[in-house]
Amino acid sequence: MAARGLGLLTSLPLRARRSQVQRPLCRLLSCPGTVAAALGREEQSLGSAETGSEDRTPKKRFSEVQKERREQAQRTVLIHCPNKISEKKFLKYLSQHGSINNHFFYESFGLYAVVEFRQKESVASLQNVTRTPSLATEAAVPFRSRYFNLKLKTPLNQTSEQPSIQCRTQSSPSSKKLFELLCCAESVDDQLNTLLREFQLTEESTRLRYLTCSLIEDVAAAYFPDCTVRPFGSSVNSFGKLGCDLDMFLDLDEIEKFSTHKASGNFLMEFQVKNVPSERIATQKILSVVGECLDHFGPGCVGVQKILNARCPLVRFSHQASGFQCDLTTNNRIALKSSELLYMYGALDSRVRALVFSIRCWARAHSLTSSIPGAWITNFSLTVMVIFFLQRRSPPILPTLDYLKTLADAEDKCIIEGHNCTFVRDFNRIKPSGNAETLELLLKEFFEYFGNFAFNKNSINIRQGREQNKPESSPLHIQNPFETSLNISKNVSQSQLQKFVDLARESAWILHQEDKDRLSPSYNQPWGLAALLLPSVANSMSLAKKKKKPASERIKNLLESIKSSSTENSTATNGRAVSTQA
Ligand code: GTP
Ligand code: MG
Repeated sequence: MAARGLGLLTSLPLRARRSQVQRPLCRLLSCPGTVAAALGREEQSLGSAETGSEDRTPKKRFSEVQKERREQAQRTVLIHCPNKISEKKFLKYLSQHGSINNHFFYESFGLYAVVEFRQKESVASLQNVTRTPSLATEAAVPFRSRYFNLKLKTPLNQTSEQPSIQCRTQSSPSSKKLFELLCCAESVDDQLNTLLREFQLTEESTRLRYLTCSLIEDVAAAYFPDCTVRPFGSSVNSFGKLGCDLDMFLDLDEIEKFSTHKASGNFLMEFQVKNVPSERIATQKILSVVGECLDHFGPGCVGVQKILNARCPLVRFSHQASGFQCDLTTNNRIALKSSELLYMYGALDSRVRALVFSIRCWARAHSLTSSIPGAWITNFSLTVMVIFFLQRRSPPILPTLDYLKTLADAEDKCIIEGHNCTFVRDFNRIKPSGNAETLELLLKEFFEYFGNFAFNKNSINIRQGREQNKPESSPLHIQNPFETSLNISKNVSQSQLQKFVDLARESAWILHQEDKDRLSPSYNQPWGLAALLLPSVANSMSLAKKKKKPASERIKNLLESIKSSSTENSTATNGRAVSTQA
């Protein structure tokens, strides 16, 4: 999930420096991650809204994407392959069961193939010729899944002179490569877009995520036939980074839908069921049995933990073959709706995802976020903060949630557990923003905005798109967009918030300094986004002193410097004076 080891950037060679002059095309072509390299990257096949790439083609609704992907996953199998096989023979062998639409290989402690058949029946045909292994020392629990193991009958003959299989990478670039890419970029805008391109989920990773959900659904169906397991969170909201966790939602309401046929006459038939004292207990019991099932029978599911006393009960496990860390929840429909809302915001303007990815990477590089639960800001909160900031621009880049609600029609109406989660889902009904600010400006302004936000008295609220008085005393208050009485950042401590504020101010200062230095560039210095990902001055100082200070002397000096230069220049950016008040 994280931009691994970004702290290493300091020790790397500095290769390139931003120039105010346009780079020659040959330079661009030789630079990994620029337009030329991007052209070689995989294409996304299921609609541009899903990926946020250029918005010329019609954007697909979230529900359409989910439906198509789910159906695609049901026709797909996962095969653990011997290290050396002939791709041609492999495909020929599988084609006996029906035509293949798509396939790719990847490595994750072994070689795996993801094969999508044209027809669902092909999967059944393959299952029919598949045997349960007979093991010499252990016993196998028989389970007819869509996760297979391919063996070669005569390995030696088959492995000779085989061309090597082309594997699709499922990991983000190393910090060294990222640094090179950022330094090769044309401008700060180009840096943000490069980071997005390199870190966003690939087509293959997205397919594998839907397939993993589909495989888990097969296991859960042993208890709950007709259940659905849907991905949510960053795997589908368009803000997912390669390697992010896979949030899954066990949907049992679909079962309900099957039985809502019209009652005839004066009779109404109900299932005999066991009753439990509350919805929460029902959720815990369901997850408990599904957790047991995954642990005992789920092929490739390891390290199953049932975390049933959490605010939102879940089963956590690793899916070995895909390498995903999975969190399975149920009765969590609002989170699915939040994913849909974020997906819409991500698709409305191409700057949104670029900015969110950079802010998420920046936060991870400075340990503001963590994969371990704790008092840190979450990626979800950071995304909501970026959306809020973009709603506050003049003119706004993103509409408020209340405005999206006014555009909704009867079909969009959605009430979940008494909460009104209605918003328009048709992109055509939302006017594009007239705001043409650059990513560079937005990045700088984001840091200035939140470096000076009155967190002590104000709450962040994307429903209304304006600050509200904080209804409670948590250091950071970000209103849950749908359960409006809840704070999605209740866990964040005062010291973590202060760290965020200090780093935001420092980053604003770095970008501001770069603006001043433009006419006299100092060579061999990281610049723009690359400079922001370096270990912070404030952090290294506080580590050296091993003392916690609300704001280091250095930051105060930096702030003074911004203050004086903004007074000197008396510049107002986009009509808003640069303020440095805490
Ligand atoms: P990463 O996993 O960090 O990449 O981002 P994520 O957006 O997937 O976050 P996470 O896995 O923590 O949570 C998954 C989803 O659950 C989020 O996208 C939200 O839709 C929802 N969610 C997470 N935290 C909260 C919260 O505090 N309140 C509410 N209502 N929903 C949350
Ligand atoms: Mg997640």
